Amino acid sequence: MKTDSRVFAYRQDSLHAEEVALADIAARFGTPTFVYSRAALVQAYREFASAAPGRRLLVCYAIKANSNLAVLDCLAREGAGFDIVSGGELKRVLAAGGRAERTVFSGVGKSAADIREALAAGVRCFNVESAAELHRLDAIARDMNTVAPVSLRVNPDVDARTHPYISTGLRDNKFGIAHEQAVALYRQASQLAGIRLVGIDCHIGSQITELAPFLAALDRVLDLLAELRDAGIRLSHIDLGGGLGIAYADETPPPRADLIRAVCERLDERLGEAAGDYELMFEFGRAIAGPAGVLLTRVEYLKPTPSKQFAIIDAAMNDLLRPSLYGAYHRVWPVAPRQGATRTWDLVGPICESGDWLARDRELALEAGDLLALADAGAYGMAMSSNYNSRGRAAEVMVDGAQALLVRKREDFEHQIAGERRLPD
Ligand code: LLP
Repeated sequence: MKTDSRVFAYRQDSLHAEEVALADIAARFGTPTFVYSRAALVQAYREFASAAPGRRLLVCYAIKANSNLAVLDCLAREGAGFDIVSGGELKRVLAAGGRAERTVFSGVGKSAADIREALAAGVRCFNVESAAELHRLDAIARDMNTVAPVSLRVNPDVDARTHPYISTGLRDNKFGIAHEQAVALYRQASQLAGIRLVGIDCHIGSQITELAPFLAALDRVLDLLAELRDAGIRLSHIDLGGGLGIAYADETPPPRADLIRAVCERLDERLGEAAGDYELMFEFGRAIAGPAGVLLTRVEYLKPTPSKQFAIIDAAMNDLLRPSLYGAYHRVWPVAPRQGATRTWDLVGPICESGDWLARDRELALEAGDLLALADAGAYGMAMSSNYNSRGRAAEVMVDGAQALLVRKREDFEHQIAGERRLPD
């Protein structure tokens, strides 16, 4: 069998993560378990970071995709920046050895407490999404006798041509500041004592598999930059957000380095010499973490019915929500592929919802007890997991060469109810 992955591959008919057999991981740590490859994380980051030698480039990792401390740690050691959307994410970055000066703070609803923490930590930049947020930030910064570095997230109104739930750059989305209002808000911001304008940013959506929407967004951002320059407002960075897609099935997203190079070329075309005045920033989540992880699960029961064959597995929508929520496709790799006749299976979890499925209509030779890996589960897998049906969260394991390290233990019942109380007598 073939997996199309360099790090999750078959060796003598046994699926490995780097040099570790997934069967051994299941035996040691149980299932369901998310398994990450350190080499895959590092390589993905490096493909971005090394794509534009000689250029000032900060590749941030959008930690919402997978915020496990070990994942952050390995990227921090590579020199990655981070993109956060909450005070909790800031604490994770710092706890993992990441640096506030290389961290940008995104999100439409930053709380006053989160803003205070981020100012105190000294984040690189606040990506501000509304006039109201700008004024809150200004007031808090002045109150703290400091000045907040700010970039306005503009909404370029381009169609990323992706799933409507993960498309963010259209006028009707809640995200960003409308193009036609951006210059006026920059002018206002430039008058505020608690604000220092440093950049401009956008993020048009996620799982984007073409270059064109990124370049269209860049063009819109550069149009604004020119208007801002005419208005006497000088900025020092351009942040194009994240959103580069991965091949869950037969998508053909541009290679990571190609996106960076195409953006740099367009910058040079449009700005000439002045392109060098701007540091270029990105906030990639999925393209770094997605292919670096699988969800390892075991078949509990086979349940053929008159109309469908169900394989009930021990992972469920609480572990990997993407299929239920977006109809997302994740490839299924048997850990020890069987010879013999295949049948068409729906892989479903133990949760009491018909929407609890992880894969549909897959041709597999299966027996109860078999181990399966759901591919490309490194991003928005564990990060979107829940305790629905009082299921403890899965374990997480990081493989590094021949070593497998438990980087989050399986959640036990005591941990699940730790914050809860019965009623008084
Ligand atoms: N920057 C901002 C401001 C974002 O909102 C996001 C993702 C990113 C960067 C990173 O995007 P990425 O490079 O990962 O595409 N749960 C969905 C994806 C939601 C993405 C939300 N924002 C999924 O599982 O497909």
